[in-house]
Amino acid sequence: MITASETKLPRISTALPGPKSQLVIDYDKKYMSPSYLRDYPFVAERGYGAIVEDPDGNAFLDFAAGIAVCSTGHCHPKVVEAIQKQAAELIHIAGNDFYHRHMPQLAERLVKTMPKPQDYRVFFGNSGTEAVEGAIKLARYATRRDKLIAFYGCFHGRTLGSLSLTASKNTQRKGFGTLLGGVEHIPYPYAYRCALGHTKETCGGEIIEFLEQQIFKRLFAPEEVAAIIVEPIQGEGGFIPAPLFFLQELQRICNRHGIVLIVDEVQAGMGRTGKWWAYDHAGITPDIVLTAKGIASGMPISAFIAKESIMQWKPGAHGTTYGGNPVCIASALATMELIEGGLMANARKIGDYVFGKINDWPQRFKIVGDVRGKGLMIGVEFVRDQKTKEKAADLRDRVIDNAFHRGLLTLGSGENSIRLSPPLIIDEEQADCAIRILEESIREAEKNL
Ligand SMILES: Cc1ncc(COP(=O)(O)O)c(C=O)c1O
Repeated sequence: MITASETKLPRISTALPGPKSQLVIDYDKKYMSPSYLRDYPFVAERGYGAIVEDPDGNAFLDFAAGIAVCSTGHCHPKVVEAIQKQAAELIHIAGNDFYHRHMPQLAERLVKTMPKPQDYRVFFGNSGTEAVEGAIKLARYATRRDKLIAFYGCFHGRTLGSLSLTASKNTQRKGFGTLLGGVEHIPYPYAYRCALGHTKETCGGEIIEFLEQQIFKRLFAPEEVAAIIVEPIQGEGGFIPAPLFFLQELQRICNRHGIVLIVDEVQAGMGRTGKWWAYDHAGITPDIVLTAKGIASGMPISAFIAKESIMQWKPGAHGTTYGGNPVCIASALATMELIEGGLMANARKIGDYVFGKINDWPQRFKIVGDVRGKGLMIGVEFVRDQKTKEKAADLRDRVIDNAFHRGLLTLGSGENSIRLSPPLIIDEEQADCAIRILEESIREAEKNL
């Protein structure tokens, strides 16, 4: 329920950034690491539903959701209540050393979303990258192999192990020296730019062949490979969905060679695509599933959910001080209840609604090359010329900036795409508003071509 001073739609009443926002920006510059991105000068003060207000009282419709994190919207009353209640009872005890009921509670909730719940076990961390690190270690430990295969365009995090897998932008790796050895990257099926002209359903067969005929025969024997790690929809890489057959083929290859299939659902999972996990659309059974972001509406928690047959390491082999913190778990349990109780279905419904309205953007706007995604994970790719598909990062940036000035928060993704990842609570009126703002923003960017 919104109060009299609150709104469902954007309300911009100052130049941006407003004077109070500018003070925060100047303050931040004085103390904060310059590595933070901050593509445009938005300053958050408070949030409710799909709206975030800045200190100047401007209200923005949030189609970024803190990088797909605020799945239930900002400060959902049920999530706030769960956090407050838990914070008054027990904040921390270190699940590494002592038992507390919250960890198995959330673990049980998570494994119930797996194809065969009884086959899985859970380890909690605090961030996506920690889930990736844990999964790399577990796959190596379980197989006693050390080679890893990931995909160009993928993003798995910024700590040294996960960064070794990440192959999204060279700025993320440049300057950090030698990363983990034994990692090979192969192309990701990117239908819009498929050199062989395949469709969104069929692109990628040649990559499977490349893996089997080139990588496995010339670089790594498959029996040396610990894991293949894949995002079912590349997030940071441009919101690019892998065709379903492609994920099924990866599963076949992994099963055949005893390779661990790690599915990174950090961005795509938790109901965002209309199912618990984006891989569910392909009907596969991964060995390890990684989750973070949307799991707890903004509280820092991640998990890797692994088959029991794989999670056979000894006490002390892996651990954490904070992972599985009771307050974060309370937030996650409330979040998952809301997702199951309607938000997942809403993501599907509103996602279909949005696609119905923007699928024809490539016909209506000459700078839009592609619209893609699933549920409320929607990518829009910008090009200078639809025939040559020349990437237009500058036009993409202009659209993001134009949208910001009209009260819509979005984020870039890949070299030249925008990602739309709103809270899963948005309704048709908010979707219409975002579409209208984006269309105006695209039109304005086209004017200056
Ligand atoms: C697919 C995927 N994996 C891992 C990560 C890393 O998560 P974190 O930033 O929480 O470490 C991200 C973050 O964007 C991600 O999108």
